[in-house]
Formats: sequence, structure tokens, C-alpha cells
Amino acid sequence: MKVLAVINQKGGVGKTTACANLGAALALKGLRVLLVDLDPQAHLSISFDQVPPVGDPSIYTLLGGRHGLVDVVRSTSAERLFIAPTNLDLSGAETEFSAEIGRETLLRDAFDDWKSAGGEADVVLMDCPPSLGLLSLNALVAADHVLLPVQAEFYALQGMAQLLDVMDRVRRRLNPPLDVIGVLVGLYSKQRRLSHEVLDELNRHFGDLVLHPFVRVNVRLAEAPSHAQTIFEYSPRSGAAEDFSALADLLADRLGLAEARAETEDPIDAKVPAQVKVPIEVEAPLTEEFSVEVAPSVQTVPSPEISAPETARGESEWGAAWARAVGTAPDEN
Ligand SMILES: Nc1ncnc2c1ncn2[C@@H]1O[C@H](COP(=O)(O)OP(=O)(O)OP(=O)(O)O)[C@@H](O)[C@H]1O
Ligand SMILES: [Mg+2]
Repeated sequence: MKVLAVINQKGGVGKTTACANLGAALALKGLRVLLVDLDPQAHLSISFDQVPPVGDPSIYTLLGGRHGLVDVVRSTSAERLFIAPTNLDLSGAETEFSAEIGRETLLRDAFDDWKSAGGEADVVLMDCPPSLGLLSLNALVAADHVLLPVQAEFYALQGMAQLLDVMDRVRRRLNPPLDVIGVLVGLYSKQRRLSHEVLDELNRHFGDLVLHPFVRVNVRLAEAPSHAQTIFEYSPRSGAAEDFSALADLLADRLGLAEARAETEDPIDAKVPAQVKVPIEVEAPLTEEFSVEVAPSVQTVPSPEISAPETARGESEWGAAWARAVGTAPDEN
């Protein structure tokens, strides 16, 4: 089981769109995929028309210890594609669970319990909220890899230093194997010169981690959720379906799952009740450190020129954070 945190604290960069459609593409290729909605906005759950009523099993009741993942997971209209949905109750989670012992590992513990009870998936995609709070921290602690959606726009790298710094701390204290599996570039338009400039920047810093193809701007992608469909149901011949299908091939390859196929009819839905494990605080809590302010150099982008001196200062800070996070220096060429 490969667990991916789809994370970027910037809003509207395509995290939810990537989870839904990459998940659907991977499922179409024969992999068993579990989508986990960690965003209190519940966009992913809404896009599958799977928002649980208040009090029913959801990610909120899972983190609160009232239900196990086995109770929360539901099937979707797509074969081999499952969802652990959420509802607006989750908006209270950041404060509600902030004093809990082992609060950073609530989700990882839930996955462990689920696996012990026979739950299994080939790929788990966790849709994170646009913030670096306790929910995102739980995702980073539970993940094997980070998938980083970015938008092909001028502000793409803003805030990246902070995200990579948090990843770095999670690796050092709670989840050493965590790495970045890829950078998914969305809302790409060939016609826009800016897209090319941003891509040059992304290539310069992320190199081979930039996934190809980029997801082109396509209104069908924005329309599909309102029909509770993925792009493969709503517009299977669209460029967006093509893009996500190719990305799924690449991702499956990188995850070593290219040859994997679903083995049983309903493998993900383990019937054994989850065990309750008492969470143990492994390390010093990270939660307070999560509220660190963004460094001024990356908080403001002063001019529309990417090579502006202030931006360059942000980049070098970002580059250092990147080097710490992935263990390599960014390509300066
Ligand atoms: N390639 C695309 N073409 C057209 N519209 C897109 C594309 N990708 C995403 N969108 C639209 O852009 C908006 C933002 O996308 P999405 O909700 O996936 O971002 P997000 O990062 O999950 O946002 P949030 O941070 O609020 O959770 C949505 O309306 C979505 O339908
Ligand atoms: Mg979202």
C-alpha cells in the first residue's frame, strides 16, 4: 500500500481535482485506490456525492477515535475506487484534537489498524486542506510520499519554503522515509507565456520530479464534480482525461505498481472491526511549530519579474529548504 499526501497549502492549485481524477485513472488501470478527504471543505466528498450526515462515520469521527477506517470507507460509482469521506464537522478538528496525546499520528494509527483488520489498497491519495495545520501534519506523518500539485502561474513557488521546511521536520522527527514523488503541474495553458516562464522555474528547482504531461486547462474538469463524476465518466475523450491517464501511468511506474492488478472483487472493504490502539507520543509535538510565520522573503512577491532580487532571495531560502527536504541541492543551472 502506497500512501500519498496530495498537499500544497496554497488554495485552488488543483489538489482535489488531482485526487479525484488521478485516483479514477489509477483505478481504471486495475489498481485499488482509496481517496481520503482531509479537507473540512469536503470538496472531494462532495464531488463524489458522498458527504456523510453529521454523526455518521467520517474522517472526523475516525480522528476522534469513534470509528475505524473500516466503518468510514465507502465505494464510489467507479470500480476499484473508494473514498473515506468527510463533512463540515472536520472544521473543528484542528482545535479539538490539538491537545490530544499522539495527535500527529491519529491517521497513521488508523491506517495501521485498518491494515491489521485486513483492509488493503494499492494506492491511497489524501486530499489535504489549504493550510499547514494538524490535518496536513497527520497526512505527512501517515504518508510514504508527497505529491505536490502546483499551478502554472506566477505565484507557484510562493510558500514552498515553508511547506518543505515542515516536511523536513516531519522527516526528522516522525516519518524519516517521507519523500516527494512528483510535482503535478495543473491549469497549464500553452498559449500563456507566463506558463512557460513558471515551468522553467519549476524545472530548474524540481528537475525530474516534475511530472509530464501537465494538466491542461479544461472546463470539463471544473464541470465534472457538479455531476458527481470524474473526468473519465463525464468527458472520457477530453484532453484532461488524456492528461490524467498518462500521469497515472507515470505515477504507477514511479510507485512500482505498474504491473499490479486488483486481485479480488471487493478487497478494500475489510469486514473485521478496527482495533483501537492507544496513541503514543513518539516525539516532541510539532503542532506549535506549525504556526510559524512564512519568512518575509517568501511571503511577499514584490514584482512580476521572476528574477527580481527579492524573489531570488526567496528562492535561495527555498532552495536550502528543498535541499534539506529531499537531500539534494537544487539544480542552479
Ligand atoms: N486543469 C483544470 N482546468 C480547469 N479547471 C480546473 C483545472 N484544475 C482545477 N480546476 C478547477 O479549479 C478550481 C480549484 O481546483 P481544486 O478544487 O482542485 O483546487 P484545490 O487545491 O483542491 O483547492 P483548495 O485549496 O480550496 O482545496 C476548481 O474549481 C477546479 O474545478
Ligand atoms: Mg481541495
